[in-house]
Amino acid sequence: MRVERLTPRHFDRAREAVRTLKTAGRTGSPRPSLHRLRAYLSNRSNFLIVASENGDPVGFAVAYCLLRVDGRRMMCLYEVAVAPPWQRRGVGIAMVDFLVGWCRRNRVSKMWVITNRSNVAAIRLYTAAGAIASGRTDDVLFEWHWRVPPGRTGAAARGSASPPKR
Ligand SMILES: CC(C)(COP(=O)(O)OP(=O)(O)OC[C@H]1O[C@@H](n2cnc3c(N)ncnc32)[C@H](O)[C@@H]1OP(=O)(O)O)[C@@H](O)C(=O)NCCC(=O)NCCS
Repeated sequence: MRVERLTPRHFDRAREAVRTLKTAGRTGSPRPSLHRLRAYLSNRSNFLIVASENGDPVGFAVAYCLLRVDGRRMMCLYEVAVAPPWQRRGVGIAMVDFLVGWCRRNRVSKMWVITNRSNVAAIRLYTAAGAIASGRTDDVLFEWHWRVPPGRTGAAARGSASPPKR
């Protein structure tokens, strides 16, 4: 199995991985359009990790490296998924280990992921990969949700969004 980070020069492989693996399934989000995928890959803070077997994509992970105000960086593991026939064969942990290794080599101080306690596979994966559930503390997650009009995110991704008016 091969695990690697895909960048703009791997665009065709990234497109194939997304086409094959990213469905509106359990992870919930739809496939991106091609120009949004290109914009995603062009941002060096974004990570598309793909696991492949004999050249075929079998799993992917999406993560974001965030800069803190104190100059330290942290990694948000946003999404990880393995094609059903390839699950429970070490693909998920290989991708998470890849990201942890990248963070350690590049002085990224921590990585986190949010999941559901009911997702046994995800809980087992992150535990096996060395993460510690923060449920033992009093952490709580709040979320804001709103609708974004079509087109706005594309403009922002191309860097043409205006600063918000106050
Ligand atoms: C979660 C997911 C990525 C795990 O990938 P995977 O390749 O099957 O995981 P691995 O084979 O690397 O297994 C890692 C560990 O998790 C355990 N595990 C994986 N799937 C499991 C399951 N269904 N039930 C119990 N344990 C499971 C493995 O036994 C292994 O633990 P061990 O090393 O202690 O034996 C995969 O199940 C998936 O794609 N699920 C749908 C998408 C999803 O829910 N993603 C997480 C969103 S936060």
